[in-house]
Amino acid sequence: MAFKTCAFTKNWLVIAVIVMCLCTEYYCQCTGGSNCSSCTAACTGCGNCPNAHTCTNSRNCINALTCTDSTNCRRARTCTNSKDCLAATTCTTSTNCNKAKTCTNSTNCYAATTCTDSTNCYSATTCTNSTGCPRR
Ligand SMILES: *[C@@H]1O[C@H](CO)[C@@H](O)[C@H](O)[C@H]1NC(C)=O
Ligand SMILES: *[C@@H]1O[C@H](CO)[C@@H](O)[C@H](O)[C@H]1NC(C)=O
Ligand SMILES: *[C@@H]1O[C@H](CO)[C@@H](O)[C@H](O)[C@H]1NC(C)=O
Repeated sequence: MAFKTCAFTKNWLVIAVIVMCLCTEYYCQCTGGSNCSSCTAACTGCGNCPNAHTCTNSRNCINALTCTDSTNCRRARTCTNSKDCLAATTCTTSTNCNKAKTCTNSTNCYAATTCTDSTNCYSATTCTNSTGCPRR
């Protein structure tokens, strides 16, 4: 009985590994190419990554939590060199960081408490070389 259970588990493990490999190589394209919409993991160099949770050098990363060199990162928590980081808490060299708490070299940091080289820092308590800093 114990053996049977083990064999059963092993078979499923093998099937899972095969499915994962197939997915990586054929269906879940995550690297390069114009359309990585099937990728739910990390996109790199993709033209369209609407379902990836991590984007690097990719476009249309509407569901990514982390964006680097990417665009349309509207749900990302962390943005580096990226665009449309509307929900990011930390922005570095990124745009539209409307809700970021910390902005470095970024734009539209309306809610940031700490701004460095950034724009529209209306709420900042620490402002360095930025615009919109409240007068104190
Ligand atoms: C990407 O591929 C998906 C699924 O094949 C398709 O639905 C979608 O329209 C494609 N998008 C682009 C921008 O090519
Ligand atoms: C700051 O941002 C600009 C454009 O947004 C970019 O060209 C520049 O390299 C950035 N500076 C640093 C130090 O990253
Ligand atoms: C101040 O910010 C501007 C624009 O972000 C940048 O070009 C410049 O290098 C910064 N200056 C210093 C002294 O950091």
